[in-house]
Amino acid sequence: MSTPPLPRPVALVTGASRGIGRAIALRLAAAHDLILVARDADRLQEVARACEEAGAAVQRVPADVTDGLATAEALTGLHVDVLVNNAGVAVLTPFLEMTAEEWHRQVDVNVNALYHVTRAVLPGMVARGRGHVCIIGSTAGRNTFVGGTCYTGTKHFVMGFAESLMLEVRDAGVGVSVITPGSVATELFPAGTNTTWMLEPDNVAAAVAFAVTTPQHMLVHRLEVRPLSPKRPRSGT
Ligand SMILES: NC(=O)c1ccc[n+]([C@@H]2O[C@H](COP(=O)([O-])OP(=O)(O)OC[C@H]3O[C@@H](n4cnc5c(N)ncnc54)[C@H](OP(=O)(O)O)[C@@H]3O)[C@@H](O)[C@H]2O)c1
Repeated sequence: MSTPPLPRPVALVTGASRGIGRAIALRLAAAHDLILVARDADRLQEVARACEEAGAAVQRVPADVTDGLATAEALTGLHVDVLVNNAGVAVLTPFLEMTAEEWHRQVDVNVNALYHVTRAVLPGMVARGRGHVCIIGSTAGRNTFVGGTCYTGTKHFVMGFAESLMLEVRDAGVGVSVITPGSVATELFPAGTNTTWMLEPDNVAAAVAFAVTTPQHMLVHRLEVRPLSPKRPRSGT
């Protein structure tokens, strides 16, 4: 008599409708079932189909992660083994040209949504005594640049949040990782940006997959992934 297969771990990925989040979902689909969160329901459906073809059972949650009540309602109590806080926005504009809406949008998605999503999912991990929270930070979490007042501020926040949370939950068996990519060719950049030298989204997804699949006693807490050089296109010539 053959033994039934073990249930697959469940990974929840925010910002899964495109870019890095889409690539993370596709990477994790090989070994995880998935809960995919983003606002764009059509794109989310396309990503879900691709993940199902890769073998994952997929639950789609079309939600705005800046809406605390809606996020709590949609996510609280779900069984999640791996949480990937990836949703993020960037408005790379000098401070004096930035509108209040642009400022608040970045803080709401890059900072406040970390509270809404993690607060809904983490108690289950702690209660089960295992789990992994992975956050997509950025090299902007330790660098500064013109046009980065708010974005780099939010990503510096991510570094402090991630390390403090790691110290708070490690004794409960929960790991916290922060992946800090350099530039990645996604729609985060305005149309027309030269992205030929940047990382591909799947390069970041490979780092996430590594960080969340180490042995239980081994934690990769920070992982920086960079394009080799802005002077060298990806073709490697
Ligand atoms: N691209 C880079 O060079 C780079 C470098 C370092 C770090 N990062 C970080 O990587 C993460 C992903 O960025 P990306 O480059 O993949 O950008 P992207 O292509 O613009 O994708 C952003 C994702 O976030 C989701 N999102 C935005 N606002 C949301 C909201 N209110 N509620 C739910 N989902 C929301 C979007 O989905 P919907 O619009 O469908 O909601 C989308 O799936 C971000 O945290 C970013 O800061 C990017």
